[in-house]
Amino acid sequence: MTQSKARILLIVDGAAAGLPGLQLLLRLRQAGFGVQVAASAAAQDFQPAVSWAAFSGLPCMALEKVSVEQLAQAELLLAVPISQNRLEQLLSTQQWRKTMQEHNIPLLAAPALLPDEAETELNCADTFAELPAGSRIIMPDEQRWDMGAMGSIALASTERCMEEVYNFFTVSDLLGKKLLLTAGATIEDIDPVRFISNRSTGRMGLALARAAARRGACVKLVHGPLADPLPANPRIEPIAVRSAQQMYEQSITELKNMDIAILCAAVADFTPDQYAPKKIKKHGEQELSLLLRRTPDILASIGKQEKRPFLVGFAAESDDLELNARLKLQSKQCDMICANDIREPGSGFAVHTNRVSIYSKEGHVTQLPLLSKDKCAEQILEQVSAHYYAWLQNQR
Ligand code: C5P
Repeated sequence: MTQSKARILLIVDGAAAGLPGLQLLLRLRQAGFGVQVAASAAAQDFQPAVSWAAFSGLPCMALEKVSVEQLAQAELLLAVPISQNRLEQLLSTQQWRKTMQEHNIPLLAAPALLPDEAETELNCADTFAELPAGSRIIMPDEQRWDMGAMGSIALASTERCMEEVYNFFTVSDLLGKKLLLTAGATIEDIDPVRFISNRSTGRMGLALARAAARRGACVKLVHGPLADPLPANPRIEPIAVRSAQQMYEQSITELKNMDIAILCAAVADFTPDQYAPKKIKKHGEQELSLLLRRTPDILASIGKQEKRPFLVGFAAESDDLELNARLKLQSKQCDMICANDIREPGSGFAVHTNRVSIYSKEGHVTQLPLLSKDKCAEQILEQVSAHYYAWLQNQR
């Protein structure tokens, strides 16, 4: 990743720039990208230059006055939002096209359209074929932006634009690899009303799914309940399950032809021995005993298989992190364990950050700092990818 060095020139234009443009700028900055803004006069009517400058940390340029030298410093031009007219105008400006070609600067453009134009092809679509590789139009998705008195506009969501930016900057080292990922908690039903579950939100799993898809992997995401929405990414195929038994069955079914399996789910270790088909009534008893039995251990079952994918497990520990992680590596016969100390602030359940240490079967240890779950997922996949290719060599 060249993320921290990346220089994005964010071109914002029109009334729509105010909210969606600013939201994208904030997301890009949070993700660590270096962004400078070139705002058209219309965009500055809605969000003044000082505001763009404050949020990007760099002076805001007037779009109409961007020089060839300034343009040539960018690694990527990101025009979000941009009106169709302005896009056509930029593309027909000889100087812009020449500079983009000479310096190999691609353009990602998300036009702001009227809702009834959202599916019509843009007049300038053909021109994109002549721009540097990676250039593309990001057409609106289902999201409509409510612009108050100005009505609603069709414009790709911030999430979608971020995916495109990540795709542009990310290495495709897992291109075409098939990856099985388990995520979230499982639910073990006691009766039609009650169940046993745990505090997992599935956020780490979702971050891993997004990061793997960005690197080009095709992800089968076998998941329990999740706190956040599923990513709308064609490379991620979600398969919803409820219980540990269902997660086990789905994972084993999907295992064939998988290259890598990352088991991140917080699977319940025990499930009620008997499911009560009718709601359990209290008849004045002061106690109720529930007999629980072990659920299948998905990680250990895959670990035992003779022909299995590169296998990564997780370990949430409250003591002796390293010792327990190493024991788990051995007992579950996996190739890598990502361990975190759940007692540490910012590293347990239901938070957006994690501090993970990665232990490989060969004895390598990588201690990651406290990171957002997205960044943590990037780092984990970096390690997974490197170790996977080394492992593959030994399989032959
Ligand atoms: O034994 P423990 O639950 O600490 O192991 C955690 C790892 O094992 C995680 O990767 C988790 O997804 C996996 N696991 C599993 N099936 C179980 C229990 C845990 O795949 N029944």
